[in-house]
Amino acid sequence: MKKVYVGMAADVFHTGHLNIINEAKKLGKVVVGLLTDAAIASYKRLPLLNYEQRKKIIENIKGVDEVVPQESLDYVPNLLKLKPDFVVHGDDWKKGVQKETRKKVLKTIKKWGGQLIEPKYTEGISSTQLIKAITENGITPNKRLKMLKRLLDLKPVIKIMEAHNGITGLIVEKTKIENNGETREFDGIWLSSLTVSTSKGKPDTEIVDFSSRFQTIEEILEVTTKPIIVDGDTGGKIEHFRFRVRTLERLGVSAVIIEDKIGIKRNSLFGTIVPQEQDTIEHFCEKIRTGKISLITDDFMIIARIESFILKKGLDDAITRAKAYIQSGADGIMIHSKEEDGKEIEDFCEQYKLFENKVPLFVVPSTYSHMTEDELKKLGVNVVIYGNHLLRSAYPNMVKTAQSILEHKSCKEASKKYCMPINEIIRLIPEEY
Ligand code: SPV
Ligand code: MG
Repeated sequence: MKKVYVGMAADVFHTGHLNIINEAKKLGKVVVGLLTDAAIASYKRLPLLNYEQRKKIIENIKGVDEVVPQESLDYVPNLLKLKPDFVVHGDDWKKGVQKETRKKVLKTIKKWGGQLIEPKYTEGISSTQLIKAITENGITPNKRLKMLKRLLDLKPVIKIMEAHNGITGLIVEKTKIENNGETREFDGIWLSSLTVSTSKGKPDTEIVDFSSRFQTIEEILEVTTKPIIVDGDTGGKIEHFRFRVRTLERLGVSAVIIEDKIGIKRNSLFGTIVPQEQDTIEHFCEKIRTGKISLITDDFMIIARIESFILKKGLDDAITRAKAYIQSGADGIMIHSKEEDGKEIEDFCEQYKLFENKVPLFVVPSTYSHMTEDELKKLGVNVVIYGNHLLRSAYPNMVKTAQSILEHKSCKEASKKYCMPINEIIRLIPEEY
């Protein structure tokens, strides 16, 4: 009997998948190469169902004889292993992002005389559309909370973008680009204290208190489905931190990052030109431990942020602190630096690689912005946070607009030069979502 290979993600199984399987069945024994969770996460969002759940469904579809994992978008490794007589795929991949994958399939199966069969794509239904419809109905706190840990398990490096209100949350949620066959989008949202405070016209000194921060979090939760990491500043008093982590956990936030500073917090990017004091290792460890035992789930992460470079305490201090914080139960380490060359980060990462007991490593490349996600990944970084860019890009345009109106005593020039058209702004946010 001939062997037929069908690759699919099948996160939301629909009639399009059934049509392909029925066509495949006419040709012989059907082996489905089911994309693993990591393979799906590499080109789009986390699957709604995990591999085992999807496998159970596909195995029980009439016409499927066997399900094997396909570990990447690339079919070639499985094809070389299985040497199928036929590969079946909808003809939609002749165009668009999967064109290259198709070419490689053709080249590979030609070696043993295999054939590619391409039934006409089933119009009017697609997993992407269905997933969009599902996520547009929102997400529960419980599900959102778990997403960061799932992403960390599946992706070598995660990219997080700052948001400080509903509209910036929507930008992080929805912005997508296509690049060399890969769809790229942000994996989650950073609730920066710098940008939240700045957008309220306040300094980044914890003066915007947590009652207000929670309102912003709610605003962003309301219009997004991606995981959220909250900038917890110093975490405040240990007695208060206990309550704060529980509130965040209940809301469905995935993680809080607290920095090892004490007293009036100043933004790290000031460095030592303003007075800033680092906490003792013992006291900060106590804060981490108290936070951890106050939580209800294992899913919420407390990330310890090390300010040793900011305060010119050096690499050894940073390493000692990282070990102590991990020992105390920190679920991640964020190493911060305001140097432009990125050398401090490189040195830290080199030492961190040698740790026996490692947790995910977070960085915020605001000053060493030349370092790419790929370079940081090579250094062992797991999460890259773009800390302030949406606010920093919006502000200059707003100032130019204000100046232009004063200069011209009219808004015509600014409207043309710096503003989006009125018929776009009124439709930017749909009335129902
Ligand atoms: C923030 O975005 O508020 C941060 C990162 O904490 S930094 O501004 O670099 O301190
Ligand atoms: Mg901050």
